[in-house]
Amino acid sequence: MFSRYKKDGASDAKPKPTAAPAAVETTTQAPAAAPKTSAPVQAGRVAPTDKEQKRRERLMEIKVELHKELLNSLNLSALEHASETELRQEIISISAETLDNLGVVLNKDERTTLHSELYDEVTGLGPLEPLLKDDSIADILINGPKNIFVERNGKLTKSEITFRNEKHLLRIIDKIVSAVGRRVDESNPYVDARLADGSRFNAMVPPIGVDGSLVSIRKFKKDKLGISDLVNFGAFSPEMALYLEAAVATRLNVIVSGGTGSGKTTTLNALSSFIANDERILTIEDTAELQLQQEHVGRMESRPANVEGKGEVSQRDCLRNALRMRPDRIIVGETRGEEVIDMLQAMNTGHDGSMTTIHANNARDGVSRLENMIAMSGIDMPLRAMRSQISAAVNLIVQVSRLQDGSRRMVSITEITGMEGDIISMQEVFRYQRVGLGPGGKIIGHFTATGVRSHYAERFKQWGYDLPANIYEPVAAE
Ligand SMILES: Nc1ncnc2c1ncn2[C@@H]1O[C@H](COP(=O)(O)OP(=O)(O)OP(=O)(O)O)[C@@H](O)[C@H]1O
Ligand SMILES: [Mg+2]
Repeated sequence: MFSRYKKDGASDAKPKPTAAPAAVETTTQAPAAAPKTSAPVQAGRVAPTDKEQKRRERLMEIKVELHKELLNSLNLSALEHASETELRQEIISISAETLDNLGVVLNKDERTTLHSELYDEVTGLGPLEPLLKDDSIADILINGPKNIFVERNGKLTKSEITFRNEKHLLRIIDKIVSAVGRRVDESNPYVDARLADGSRFNAMVPPIGVDGSLVSIRKFKKDKLGISDLVNFGAFSPEMALYLEAAVATRLNVIVSGGTGSGKTTTLNALSSFIANDERILTIEDTAELQLQQEHVGRMESRPANVEGKGEVSQRDCLRNALRMRPDRIIVGETRGEEVIDMLQAMNTGHDGSMTTIHANNARDGVSRLENMIAMSGIDMPLRAMRSQISAAVNLIVQVSRLQDGSRRMVSITEITGMEGDIISMQEVFRYQRVGLGPGGKIIGHFTATGVRSHYAERFKQWGYDLPANIYEPVAAE
């Protein structure tokens, strides 16, 4: 066999069939179940039957052999310049030869699955590839090599895809982090990174990960959900969208609050679409996820300290610098710590219309969280002063939530209206009203105004957003 990608002198000789190939230490992934039909394999399907399991184990053994053979035969440096088609061809030809030598006959579907997995293994992130390519998956969560969970439509399910062992998983983690110039090992056991496709990646390896490496990946959505998508998905009502447009366009300072994975970043991104195209916007994030549509956008990404503990550029550093860069608006992806002070000051001092997200369960909690963050930042400020700073800075808290049935909704829009004594006064203008449970645990409910007229109605009017009075009227259940 002649091949440009084959190492000089790499054996064309037959590999000896191994008695127990499964015992060979290798980096080959466990394959997805061989599909019985030629329908595309949906990554992360549920538990296989015994027969399928046996078949998969057999396939895995074959793949171990094939992968060894590929690594032996392929000239990896020449591969860098090979086109995808050439490489796939090469894999097919080496695999055909090896299978022949092993005396193994596979059906067409099994061969196709095998070849694409081998390709992923050689060029990409192995078992993660099909999960990364599957657009219906939003999150990939890995607890050790054999437990991979995926989130689709707000629901977590266990995937049948596994890594061969912890060593295999570690090799893939290493491939990911070394590509972005980071390192992860026993002495430096956790890392945050961004994949080439923009996905957010976090890993923690043993001994900190007790049962194996822990990995979480928030997939990057190429087409971020816009306001109309979110309205169509039932995340909020058209009336709420109208209100939010007025709020953002008239430069209210907005905080999107919610739990993990509740849709905060998505909501923030969608809200940003109401900012006029001629405004200068600066965004600050730990991992750049926002995709603003405006022209005049400066994006910053903070940087953790390196292995020697040097070179950190915190969100607070970015924010302080941003204030010198003449922004009209500042958007901080998530306020989590000491940057809160600068964020509130920015909101108070001419950068109104700024936005951020925080991790909290409701508007009141959100305010407490801001107070805690201020206290933790080491600034000695009396509670009342803290609160008056918050109430002067923040106009609106938009609460998003992932409900038990997996749906993500804007459960409340609350305005901060000032101070009453030592207490920050607020009023809820819109909310999601739950009325019961439907078949399959589906939550039944509807969006409604609370009947309170917006504190900012006059401001909206002056800016040319004269919202119809009836959007503040409560909606009765159908
Ligand atoms: N209303 C919605 N309907 C359907 N999917 C949504 C909705 N809102 C967000 N999503 C999807 O949910 C996933 C999580 O959303 P997002 O990243 O906005 O959450 P988050 O609260 O910022 O998470 P984290 O706490 O991890 O930062 C994304 O894949 C996003 O596309
Ligand atoms: Mg987020």
